Amino acid sequence: MYILVTPGWRDDPNRMKALILAGGKGTRLKPLTNTIAKQLIPVANKPILHYVLEQVTSAGISDIGIIISPETGCLIKEALGDGKRWGARITYIPQSEPLGLAHAVQTARPFLGDSSFLMFLGDNLIHGGVDVFVERFTTGEADALVLLKEVAAPRLFGVAELDASGEIVRLVEKPREPVSNLALVGIYLFTPEIHDAIARIKPSWRGELEITDAIQVLLDMGRTVRSHILEGWWLDTGKKDDLLEANRVVLDEFLQRDVRGEIDAASQVVGRVTVGEGATIENSTIRGPVLIGEGCHIRNSMVGPFTSIAAGTTIEQSGIEHSVVLENCSIYNIERLSDCVLGRCAEITRRGDGFKATTLFVGDDARVGL
Ligand code: TTP
Repeated sequence: MYILVTPGWRDDPNRMKALILAGGKGTRLKPLTNTIAKQLIPVANKPILHYVLEQVTSAGISDIGIIISPETGCLIKEALGDGKRWGARITYIPQSEPLGLAHAVQTARPFLGDSSFLMFLGDNLIHGGVDVFVERFTTGEADALVLLKEVAAPRLFGVAELDASGEIVRLVEKPREPVSNLALVGIYLFTPEIHDAIARIKPSWRGELEITDAIQVLLDMGRTVRSHILEGWWLDTGKKDDLLEANRVVLDEFLQRDVRGEIDAASQVVGRVTVGEGATIENSTIRGPVLIGEGCHIRNSMVGPFTSIAAGTTIEQSGIEHSVVLENCSIYNIERLSDCVLGRCAEITRRGDGFKATTLFVGDDARVGL
């Protein structure tokens, strides 16, 4: 019997699948993640997962599996639907517990079959997209291609040690004594060999099946693992300050001036500012880059650089900068807010009656900096 192996079958990107990880607990972004999936939190008023889907589909991959959790899976399904909007076909893959990135791959095995695949953490973004890496992987011979980025605090990441010729020698998850400052970015390309490697690993000290350990097993098996060091930005939006940084970078890089709402003569709108339909700006200063969503009302206020305000929010007699405000918030009489992330319908008011006490009514896991 002859088995016909077509040379270069991996050259067809349509054969590649993508696995986007949108499960997890999102503990570090509580309380926002009590009611919203971490991957749906907006950066520059657009859910992070939309950027991920754009990057995956623009690399020519349309068969996409999305890992979802029991807690937020229905929100993700509702937000993305069948994927037609991105020219994709989405298969939702429930993961009963967040037992690690390699566990997510194991859970997705029936979807992945024997395809090579791009794995993309649903809360990660990189500058310039993934086209080049998908191209390099599909035309190469490696069993894995990992993206690396120089970071200041390698102890917090999976880290790669390279030899003098740039080949990966070793990978270590959150090393106590880092062997390099090259962190593994949450974007990987694998052939089906990764499944054999995952089958050989055990849960780590934190009880998770680590993808870093599986890639190390690939290396130990003598498989080729290539790497690429990213020059551009890598944004991991898993914590509040990272989310603000992602918002800053995306506004800085992509925001255009586009004013559709009404701005009165007493207002000043300076620089790259987008104001959505039905929004009103009265007697206020807006200094870009700033994104103001549809139907927002800004009065007697100052909105400073690197702020994204989602639809339906009202700001009066206040100042805000370097912040992310979700839909339908109200901010009254607060002189200066900075580095804030406000969940939907949050209300922040300073009472104007000489009453000096601070009055709070905040939900579980709230963090208030006075
Ligand atoms: P993490 O940020 O490592 O984990 P998390 O989302 O549970 O966050 P926290 O540590 O704050 O509780 O996960 C990275 C991405 O991978 C994120 O989009 C969630 C997803 N993920 C899964 O889908 N399944 C998993 O088992 C794990 C660990 C993560």
